[in-house]
Amino acid sequence: METNFWPLNQRRLRTGTHIRELTASVKLNYKSFIQPVFVDEALSSARKVNGLNDVQVETADSILYSIEQDTRNGISKFLLFPVPAIRKDKEFDFSFASHVIRRIKENFGEEVWLAADVCLCSYTTHGHCGILNQDHTQLLNSKTVEVLSHYASLLANAGADCIAPSDMTDGRIGAIRNKLDALGYEQVSIMSYAAKFSSQFYGPFRDACHSAPNTMGLQNRKTYQLSPFNSNDALASAIRDEKEGADILMVKPAALYTDVIAKLKQQTLKPVAAYHVSGEYAAIEALAEKGLLDREAAHVEVWAALQRSGADIIISYAARNAKEWINNAII
Ligand code: PBG
Repeated sequence: METNFWPLNQRRLRTGTHIRELTASVKLNYKSFIQPVFVDEALSSARKVNGLNDVQVETADSILYSIEQDTRNGISKFLLFPVPAIRKDKEFDFSFASHVIRRIKENFGEEVWLAADVCLCSYTTHGHCGILNQDHTQLLNSKTVEVLSHYASLLANAGADCIAPSDMTDGRIGAIRNKLDALGYEQVSIMSYAAKFSSQFYGPFRDACHSAPNTMGLQNRKTYQLSPFNSNDALASAIRDEKEGADILMVKPAALYTDVIAKLKQQTLKPVAAYHVSGEYAAIEALAEKGLLDREAAHVEVWAALQRSGADIIISYAARNAKEWINNAII
């Protein structure tokens, strides 16, 4: 006979907000958040992005106001995506990106932590993340790594606190680390897009950065980004990046890949960042606009899921609301 069977004993922990707060295994903190920001050289005033409420593509001037506003809301960590006015396929001009970083650091100094995306997709005419061969059928690995490490060193020189390579070529982390160290930028960290999947959910971002692949050759990024059908490749790539010197390992998209976050967390002692990408963000916004969910609560629920699965850092387009929304959240 069962004498210790009390069918309702778990529910005592759910009886009210106080006890639910006390016993929560996940405690979110806005200090773990990074806000992505876009700056486009070709714009004369900030523009909205299709699907991304509350996120604008800024000019080199308006970005300063937007960062100022964010710091007042408690957000001090940013991931910068610079978009140059002129696209070409060689002899890239990286001066706009450096200029923007210099201005941000001149204005805010140590008050902000600035990570700079390193990729060529908004630089190239074909929208791919690196250099292509003549007939555009292949992305050339070593040539791309060479250009990206040079680019990374310019951004470090301009004052970036962290370099975030999102191109997904092999060997770029080691090459960038060597280059940064050789030039005396030992303190600049690297946040690797270590497990970046080839995803449908980058749509709104590509609108913001004009970075969708557009060539008759390689029509998608499947030869360099990870397959959603292969988590082993994701883990192997992330561990490889760690060995090459990455300081932070990122998984992206986030909410669809919590299995990868959880597995990676078990295999590394490095901090894991989860990037809730533009399409994931826009999906929540679209449902909220239809009145089908509560916007704030839905974002907070996703953040809890990411942290529960093992993410130490959350990159979200709603990071600038994190302090307020987490504070208001009814657990
Ligand atoms: C560029 C890059 C992309 C994102 C970050 N860096 C797009 C892509 O790979 O096509 C996506 C971010 C987002 O959707 O929020 N390599």
